[in-house]
Amino acid sequence: MTAPITLGVAPRFYKQWQLARNAVGFCNQLRAEFGDLVLARGFFDFYLVNDPELVGMVLVNKDRIVDRVDARNPIYQRIGNIGRSGLATSAPEHWRQQRRRVAPLFGASAIRGFAETMIASAETWAARWDAKAASGAAFDMKAEMNELSLEVNTRCLFNTELRDDHARLQGWFSTMKRYLEAFPYPLFGAWWFPSPLNLQTKAALRAFDRWALGLIARRRAAPLAPDAIDMITRMLGARDPETGAGMSDEEIVHELLTFLIAGFESTSSALLWTFYQLSQHPDIEARVHAELDDVLGDRALTMEDLPKLAYTRRVIDEVMRQTPAVWFMARTTVTEVDMGGNRIPEGSHLLMSIPTLHNNPAVWPEPARFDPDRFLPEAVAARSPNAYVPFGRGPHACIGSHFSLQELLVMTAALARRFRAVLVDDLDPTDVRAGLSVYPRHGVRMRLERRAAVATRKAS
Ligand code: HEM
Repeated sequence: MTAPITLGVAPRFYKQWQLARNAVGFCNQLRAEFGDLVLARGFFDFYLVNDPELVGMVLVNKDRIVDRVDARNPIYQRIGNIGRSGLATSAPEHWRQQRRRVAPLFGASAIRGFAETMIASAETWAARWDAKAASGAAFDMKAEMNELSLEVNTRCLFNTELRDDHARLQGWFSTMKRYLEAFPYPLFGAWWFPSPLNLQTKAALRAFDRWALGLIARRRAAPLAPDAIDMITRMLGARDPETGAGMSDEEIVHELLTFLIAGFESTSSALLWTFYQLSQHPDIEARVHAELDDVLGDRALTMEDLPKLAYTRRVIDEVMRQTPAVWFMARTTVTEVDMGGNRIPEGSHLLMSIPTLHNNPAVWPEPARFDPDRFLPEAVAARSPNAYVPFGRGPHACIGSHFSLQELLVMTAALARRFRAVLVDDLDPTDVRAGLSVYPRHGVRMRLERRAAVATRKAS
């Protein structure tokens, strides 16, 4: 039983067009005006769930009250056309087996095997940033972080830089992203309808599938050395611990696409917001620099350094509180549910906006203040685990959370120890575009400055 909550009912069609323009702003407004549980009706009827305990009840789903993939939910139908039998979109039975097979590949110890690759990518990137810092020219940090994240993700998933393939991957991805972010209009949006966007998306899917099947065939023919294992190889060897069943090539392709779509932009968005926040808080940036200098001195970053970067990690946690990279989670009720004393009918769509939850002043005092010390161990222990869910919670929690936290820490440490990113054009961090991930609506123009060498700083 959760504490009683008054159900706020927004007038029919209340500002729903804003779902397309600034969905996060819209959800924040619904919460501010109608409370922690809101019924919004119009083009799409849904309950916005803002209360942390209700969010926990839905996500943990102890009593099987909701499903994530449901034929009645147009958003998941759309995502499912791309992800197909992949983890983020498969129906409950297949999902359970797939999660059992794939989870061990993403555990904390398995992910440590990717640290060297991530560090090598970071070093390559630092050389590229050297040239940018020397030129002093402003550039689009969003595009930069997208490229960096694509590089790391493809290296870890496919164990190759695939530089020649980046342009093709980016092209397929941007078509799929346009499809995923388009409004699900009844006829024009239906998957069978031969609209230009549907046809382009199907062509991009076919091309990706052919390309990924080719990679899988090459891995089968010529296995990699044990120290160069990638995610394809790991999936070829994955077995369901209950039944012993392995994965078909088709399942591996769907999973690779799911990992790319779920992982590459979200991590890029988190990196972008991290360098933005550092640029806005010189005192916090100075503490990060001091920690990096103390722990790393002048030597190269290694895997063993990561657990020692506690403050830098808190900065990343606070970035993902204030400006989480992924903004929504959705579920459909499969039975009538009591939520805070309100009867929610079976077949209702529940929407949870992560930024709205993370900036709820009832839970987070002064939410607009950027304060990494909200993540000191004692502060975390005093808070409900439902208040902070950048990677979700419960059975569908992000399978890539260890992977991306490791990537975020490696990239932030390797780049921030050498460079300061300086914002060139002002931006309002609440004016965001929330699609697959959350970005400042008008881009982020920054330039780089090289930091002085550690030895010089310590002497002065
Ligand atoms: C900063 C980076 C990331 C963020 C913020 C993020 C966030 C999330 C969230 C909030 C969910 C839960 C969705 C729900 O409950 O409906 C999720 C699920 C998922 N994520 Fe991530 N993610 C990130 C990176 C990654 C990476 C790198 C991968 C894979 C390589 C990945 C793969 C997945 C998959 C497969 C699911 C579905 C899990 C399931 O239903 O079993 N994510 N992610």
